[in-house]
Amino acid sequence: MSMSLEVPATVNRQWVLKRRPVGPVSRADFNYVEGKPPTQLDEGDVLVRALYFGFDASQRIWLTEDGGYMDPIMPGEVMKSMGIGQVVESRHPDYKPGQMVEGFMSWQDYPIMRADGPMPLRILPPADYPLSWNLGIFGVGGLTAYFGVTAGLNVTAGETVVISAATGATGNLACQIAKLKGAKVIGIAGGAAKCRWVLENTGADHCVDYRAPDYIEQIRALAPDGVNAYFDNVGGEMLNEMIMLMAPRGRILICGAMSQGYEDTRCEGPSNYMQMVNNHLTMVGIHLFFYADQIPAAAQQLGQWTMEGKLRALENHQEGFEKAPDLLPTMFTGKDPGKLVLKIAEPH
Ligand SMILES: NC(=O)c1ccc[n+]([C@@H]2O[C@H](COP(=O)([O-])OP(=O)(O)OC[C@H]3O[C@@H](n4cnc5c(N)ncnc54)[C@H](OP(=O)(O)O)[C@@H]3O)[C@@H](O)[C@H]2O)c1
Repeated sequence: MSMSLEVPATVNRQWVLKRRPVGPVSRADFNYVEGKPPTQLDEGDVLVRALYFGFDASQRIWLTEDGGYMDPIMPGEVMKSMGIGQVVESRHPDYKPGQMVEGFMSWQDYPIMRADGPMPLRILPPADYPLSWNLGIFGVGGLTAYFGVTAGLNVTAGETVVISAATGATGNLACQIAKLKGAKVIGIAGGAAKCRWVLENTGADHCVDYRAPDYIEQIRALAPDGVNAYFDNVGGEMLNEMIMLMAPRGRILICGAMSQGYEDTRCEGPSNYMQMVNNHLTMVGIHLFFYADQIPAAAQQLGQWTMEGKLRALENHQEGFEKAPDLLPTMFTGKDPGKLVLKIAEPH
């Protein structure tokens, strides 16, 4: 297996799904294959050289028989991913060789990307910040955090906001953006070190360790008048308990359900849901696809806040194509904080 960041232009390394994973996904579910870069492009195809893969928990859902919001990845197909590439050849008038682009791709050196997918195939202008930030702060996590805290939860100054998976790509930015909106922010993370990281890096006022048996009591004590808005990345029993901590007219944003493992598309629902009636609560889902037309404006706002020093891009930066299948399960087993990105190659 070629481990280098510089592979010959004639080699196309691929991670191909060997079998549909049962339980946690692992390297054994993929085959490493070396072939040649594609030479035949269809109308609208954009052939790129992959530079970065971004990791998202929902990739595990794409591997289920149902696929969730995507067509399921079939055995024999190259694993799909978000990523950044440099255009090699294009049969789409808007994309030119040499440009950097971000969008859906796959785990290979030479993926073909499409502009007519569910997310824009974004052309990345030359910038003085790291290219990989387009997968994190200006990518899925940052944009979901932005739309979630603003349009989804409509967080206003003085409110108490709780954000779970607060070290994650989305959660850390949701904490930062809720602070920018003037809220009192309580993060939730697994372990003392991760809670410290949340406090030191996101500006959250408090962070509670969900491994502590009394963590719900700790949140209750920190929010004596109740929680106005809960940004939920975890689901399961944590969501069930959080429903009981909501203030009257509280809002809950369902962004993800990390506790459910994503090994199939069924989830445990909250048994405390009658509290939604008692306290006139709102629960609303979010999916970035539904904001596709607002992404350029949101990315611009995130860029401006970052330039002004109001937001920090926090990354867990890895290198090497060979690592991809080992990194995927770490989304569920306690990866390091920040957006997980894997560098595949240097731009030319
Ligand atoms: N709706 C959308 O459009 C959209 C877009 C992006 C992401 N999402 C969802 O948002 C969630 C977070 O994704 P991300 O990319 O921001 O995160 P990420 O960087 O992949 O990090 C995953 C986080 O989940 C936490 N976690 C894992 N298992 C957990 C468990 N059993 N209980 C509590 N926490 C657990 C981990 O924290 P600890 O180490 O502290 O356990 C980690 O911070 C996912 O559910 C994802 O599907 C949704």
